[in-house]
Amino acid sequence: MVIETRLVNTRILPVSVDQPDSATIQLAAEVLRAGGLVAFPTETVYGLGANALDADAVNSIFAAKERPASDPIIVHIDQVSDLAMVATDVPLLAFELASRFWPGPLTLVLRRSERVPPVVSAGMATVAVRMPAHPIARALIRQAGVPVAAPSANRFARPSSTTAAHVLEDLDGRVDVILDGGPATIGLESTVLDLTRATPTVLRPGAVTLEMLRVVIPDVQILTRYLEVDQEGIEAPGMLLKHYSPRAELRLYAGEIQQVIPAMRQNARDLAAAGRRVGLLIPDSEQGDFSDLPVELRLLGGDLETISHHLFDRMRALDRDGVDVILMHGLEQSGLGLALWDRLVRAANGQVIWCTASDSQG
Ligand code: TXA
Ligand code: MG
Repeated sequence: MVIETRLVNTRILPVSVDQPDSATIQLAAEVLRAGGLVAFPTETVYGLGANALDADAVNSIFAAKERPASDPIIVHIDQVSDLAMVATDVPLLAFELASRFWPGPLTLVLRRSERVPPVVSAGMATVAVRMPAHPIARALIRQAGVPVAAPSANRFARPSSTTAAHVLEDLDGRVDVILDGGPATIGLESTVLDLTRATPTVLRPGAVTLEMLRVVIPDVQILTRYLEVDQEGIEAPGMLLKHYSPRAELRLYAGEIQQVIPAMRQNARDLAAAGRRVGLLIPDSEQGDFSDLPVELRLLGGDLETISHHLFDRMRALDRDGVDVILMHGLEQSGLGLALWDRLVRAANGQVIWCTASDSQG
């Protein structure tokens, strides 16, 4: 299928995070107001922004990303009072959550206001809203004077962009302006919490963790569609949205680390022997476990925050290296670890290779 995308001259404008230059922000805000597209850093990942009240502008986001129209987009605001512009029947809980977690990596699904065109929400009666914490994002939204619809600034189904270079890699000629404010801090997308259900439900785990939400909402649920895989790693077919994926196939390992490392080593050797180019994404501490293998090693860092921050960047790097298969193992699944695990399971298309003690013998 050929998607019509008008090629534009993409301008990359460096912006200081601490003191966003007002002339640059002004220029980008004018592009937004005129119906153009501006990619900008947030504390989670880079967003591909358009005026959320302009249906044509929002349509051009879908075209630029080659994103199916069935996938709704998050609306970004600069102050809590702007909630009234984009949502209706806002429950008290939303204000309580906003006072605790905004600005920050929490997106709330609410009832959509008539002012927000249906295309933003893929025709649904709800709208997802977030107030980002990043100074450049805040300055841009404030200056634009309109709510900003922005999905992650990647081509559909590619890993989210966490640097301006990633945005350029995927969207050169498809976005008018890229505000380059350096790497996004967290590196994983926001927590999406649906407040329109009988019980508040996390649709996507993120840096505002389930544990943090439970303090405010003791009965908060999580939609485990992407997280629950059985010991064979088989989910109901068709249930999994392939997402956040490198071009290479991702093989995700889980289980006891004493079993996981030998299984990954064996698999890497077998794949390399079969002529396939293999990449490994590993915590720094495991470099010695794999450095003798004929593979591309990419280190993720030490702690969960650092590993999350680097994940999408290192996936993209292995794609550029031209590997066919990427091997990685899961880490802890609490706190931010749940968000990381969610992205890995999606990137692995729901397949998890569970390593038990009996597997590793021989
Ligand atoms: O951190 C983030 O959330 C980044 C930055 C740019 O803010 N944005 C982002 O957008 O990740 P996107 O479009 O890549 O992911 C938005 C997620 C999707 O899973 C989408 O289905 C969900 O939010 N979503 C958006 N609107 C929704 C709605 N009305 N109801 C339910 N889910 C919604
Ligand atoms: Mg996305």
